[in-house]
Amino acid sequence: MSLIEDLNWRHAVKAYDPTKKLKEEDLNKILEAARLAPTSSGLQPFRVIVVENQELKEKMVPGSLNPEVMRDSSHVLVFAAWDSYSDEKIDEVYDYHTEVRDLPKGRFSSYTDKIKEIYGAQTPEQHFAHTARQTYIALGLAMAQAAELKIDSTPAEGFSNDVVDEVLGLRQLGLKSVSLLYLGYKDEKNDWLSHMKKVRIPMEEFIIKK
Ligand SMILES: Cc1cc2nc3c(=O)[nH]c(=O)nc-3n(C[C@H](O)[C@H](O)[C@H](O)COP(=O)(O)O)c2cc1C
Repeated sequence: MSLIEDLNWRHAVKAYDPTKKLKEEDLNKILEAARLAPTSSGLQPFRVIVVENQELKEKMVPGSLNPEVMRDSSHVLVFAAWDSYSDEKIDEVYDYHTEVRDLPKGRFSSYTDKIKEIYGAQTPEQHFAHTARQTYIALGLAMAQAAELKIDSTPAEGFSNDVVDEVLGLRQLGLKSVSLLYLGYKDEKNDWLSHMKKVRIPMEEFIIKK
């Protein structure tokens, strides 16, 4: 199937079959798609937490707009972004880049000095607004990869960030939750969206040609 067919096939599933679990091999492909997402300056300023444990899922139910989806999906991916940028984090990433590319340490120092100056003039709130935006590209790619594998998913912002951060101990890792991607196999009978048409505004309205 083509990418467009996969994107037409998928929808934000509202009910999952709790007896159906993702194969590890499929889960790994979805995670790889997220890992390959491009990010600003290549900093990859977020992590993906994979939650399969039922007890942890139950603890994340309070504040969730989709409690049944939280309970019944096979896995919950939590996209969590750095709470701030720092010179140390930037150096750590670029030291890794030079190591992987077999380049001398400091090869990119004129560039990293520039981004350190830019982020140094910003607040942690501005940093998080930027790191959080990066996660959505990975979320989209993970969703597209899931669709290609015919795995159902639901992207979600309808949850309590405080609860999720607390349950998963994210703040101690310098991370804050941004969005979730529920993964699994739909419960056709209870997923009220299953048999509805996909709705998108017409292309002529969506695209503004200048
Ligand atoms: C960033 C984002 C957050 C969303 N949050 C939720 C959510 O909390 N709960 C939910 O049921 N659907 C959520 N959705 C799903 C959207 O409502 C859905 O993608 C949209 O209506 C388009 O429908 P489709 O994905 O089925 O094609 C979210 C989607 C995105 C992209």
